Amino acid sequence: MENIFEHICSFEPQQNDIQGEVTWKSPSNIALIKYWGKYGQQLPRNASLSMTLTEAYTQTSITYAYTKNQAQRVFLFEGQESKSFAKRIWRFIDSLERFYPFLQQLDLKIESSNSFPHSAGIASSASAMSALALCLVDMERSLFNRLKNEESFFKKASYIARLGSGSASRSIFKGFSIWGENMKVNRATDNRFAIGFNEDIHPFYKGLKDAILIVDEGEKQVSSSLGHSLMDCHPFVENRLVQANDHLIDLARVLKTGKKDSFIKIVEAEATSLHALMMSSEPWFILMKPATITILEKVRTYRDATKKFICFTLDAGPNVHLLYHSSDEKEIMEFIDAELKPLCSQEKILYDGMGKGPQKIK
Ligand code: PMV
Repeated sequence: MENIFEHICSFEPQQNDIQGEVTWKSPSNIALIKYWGKYGQQLPRNASLSMTLTEAYTQTSITYAYTKNQAQRVFLFEGQESKSFAKRIWRFIDSLERFYPFLQQLDLKIESSNSFPHSAGIASSASAMSALALCLVDMERSLFNRLKNEESFFKKASYIARLGSGSASRSIFKGFSIWGENMKVNRATDNRFAIGFNEDIHPFYKGLKDAILIVDEGEKQVSSSLGHSLMDCHPFVENRLVQANDHLIDLARVLKTGKKDSFIKIVEAEATSLHALMMSSEPWFILMKPATITILEKVRTYRDATKKFICFTLDAGPNVHLLYHSSDEKEIMEFIDAELKPLCSQEKILYDGMGKGPQKIK
């Protein structure tokens, strides 16, 4: 049986005709059970569960050609050179030298673009790193005649994406994904890669929508790596791990039974816990803005009054992901337009929903 994590060898000098191009499009995802805290080589302290989106994606191409000389590297973001993105991309490529030494023997041109505005305050690392990982693993597949089996291919892509950005490991799969170990959740047995979690999902949860309310378009106030490191000596870390594991077990069950109240309770508790952990870190951070809090309160008031299925989740920032069901789209849109839109930066909202996962373009 193929060992998918085996390190690949370098090219022999006679393989000097190697060249090609590969392009993948990969979506972002929103965590319902949050990954917060890591150890070792980007391994999660707790398992997380996310929904893969559709409209927010990154498209990445790699053009490559064998060289005997010092390899040339070009990175273009939306057609332009971008020093800060390039630095992160090449640092990631270099960190893969152990797995993919052949990358150092190739002239590489990487071109990447996002479907969503860069200044929208949306974390793009999940879509960017998953698209890049899919291109790299596709190169492994075609250049070394490996990973012919789909399951192995996506497992390896999730593994490589994780090394770029933990949450990127989950974007490799459509629908729901789980990344990390939880002894009580079937197949959630490995911290190194995510798995698709789409068997026996209640039909209701296949119609989930996500309206991303942009409260602030600025750069992230706290980088992910700083955020995760705050958990290393957080006073509540042990309790957080118990909570995250219990939430995952419960949500995995709820997604199959279709229970709505429990979904709302768990998903909102995950979001508020994430922010509470940040507020109680040393140093502390408050990542919500006044408008974030007003939105959360309005969502609760609207839900109490209408009994509609609607709830929020938050990333490590002030923007709100509003989750609802496609069958309520019309009423929820009216609520958003009347009450929430005026609270968003330049009334900016990105409408998204559960997606079909990455797609190979070339
Ligand atoms: O993948 P990272 O290192 O950017 O971490 C993502 C952390 C959260 O977005 C806050 C939660 C998550 O599980 O996506």
